[in-house]
Amino acid sequence: MHSGTRGGGILVYLTLTGWGIGMIQSYGGVAAMIRVSTPEIPVVGIRPHLIERRASDVLAAFPGDVLYAVKCNDHPVVLRALFDAGVRHFDTASIKEIRLVRGLFPEAACHFMHPVKSLEAIAEAYFAHGVRRYVLDHPRELDKIVAATGAAEDLELFVRVAVPGDGALLTLTGKFGATVEESIALLRQCKTVARSTGVTFHVGSQCLAPQAFERAIGIVAGIIDEVGGIDHLDVGGGFPAAYTGDEPPFEAFVAAILRAVGEHGLTCGLQCEPGRLLVADGASVFARVELRRGQALYLNDGVYGNLAELKWVGPQFPTRALGVHGPRGGRQVSFDLFGPTCDSIDSMPGPHWLAADVADGDWIEVGMMGAYSCALRTDFNGFAAAHTVLLDDEAWYDVTRLGTDRLACAA
Ligand SMILES: Cc1ncc(COP(=O)(O)O)c(C=O)c1O
Repeated sequence: MHSGTRGGGILVYLTLTGWGIGMIQSYGGVAAMIRVSTPEIPVVGIRPHLIERRASDVLAAFPGDVLYAVKCNDHPVVLRALFDAGVRHFDTASIKEIRLVRGLFPEAACHFMHPVKSLEAIAEAYFAHGVRRYVLDHPRELDKIVAATGAAEDLELFVRVAVPGDGALLTLTGKFGATVEESIALLRQCKTVARSTGVTFHVGSQCLAPQAFERAIGIVAGIIDEVGGIDHLDVGGGFPAAYTGDEPPFEAFVAAILRAVGEHGLTCGLQCEPGRLLVADGASVFARVELRRGQALYLNDGVYGNLAELKWVGPQFPTRALGVHGPRGGRQVSFDLFGPTCDSIDSMPGPHWLAADVADGDWIEVGMMGAYSCALRTDFNGFAAAHTVLLDDEAWYDVTRLGTDRLACAA
């Protein structure tokens, strides 16, 4: 629940995670924020209108249920923006995420999509929160679900199938997922106890190849055929955010999914679990330059704070330098970035393109940081704190042109 003013003022929101009331300052834009706010700690600026816009587009383009992967960013303002856009299903992986979503939106559906759960979490999800949809990839997990729910007769059980992750920047292979033979055996077992059954897979995060979904659907189609059909096909997450503008659009993935579904004659209901795609462009991180040493900038935020993705995804996020008078223009040159902790892992090698005259005390705005980065923040080495604000402006970059701009800068 949130209420309050937009375009400058305080926004009050209620989060039921801790039964507390949070207050967030709201600004008309980055310029207004910089004029009045000079916090010593990093700032996370959420743009809920961008999240709403993206979610509406995704809901319109996907012919099935869209489950938001809560792990990606569980800030109540982010969840509210998604709900306001029409998202009513949530991929929850822990009991804490389920409590959060059910507390904020009692009418929304949570689906417990983690293949390994505690008995206590399954029981609370089923009896206290009405969760009926569970994922598993091992026969003992099936035993746990049956036992913890008192052999419930209304379970909807999904088997997670292992699929290749080669189209993705961040592969998720090797930890979860049953082989084809295991999946067939598991689904047969599920069919004896469940009200409905499904399969799910994840091709890896920031997947740049729509064909990866076609290939994965080809794998699960064989399984579905072998067990005589199922009720639901969950194609997972992995759809890319447009960090550079060169990524295939969501519509290309939907077309590939529908092509494969048609080719294999699948008639089950469809669902997907996007995280990154829905929220990446909904937040910027503002980090202050504490020291410039040549082409190296030492920031007050880094890999252990809000900028982990700058290391793990790489230097492809839109960046700009903000001086006291606003954005610095002029010639763009490449920088390496370093975070504030003493650990040398806390480095984010470039090229990060910023104005050549960036100086100590400037803010670096890193755009498209709504996915994972803030969610991964730790307080290692005493540098955790971040100040969260709301921004009503549009992002400054045009993602469709970023790739070309960078080539021009590099020339
Ligand atoms: C089971 C599951 N579903 C969905 C997601 C969201 O993936 P993405 O943010 O790449 O869309 C993840 C991410 O780890 C996941 O593990």
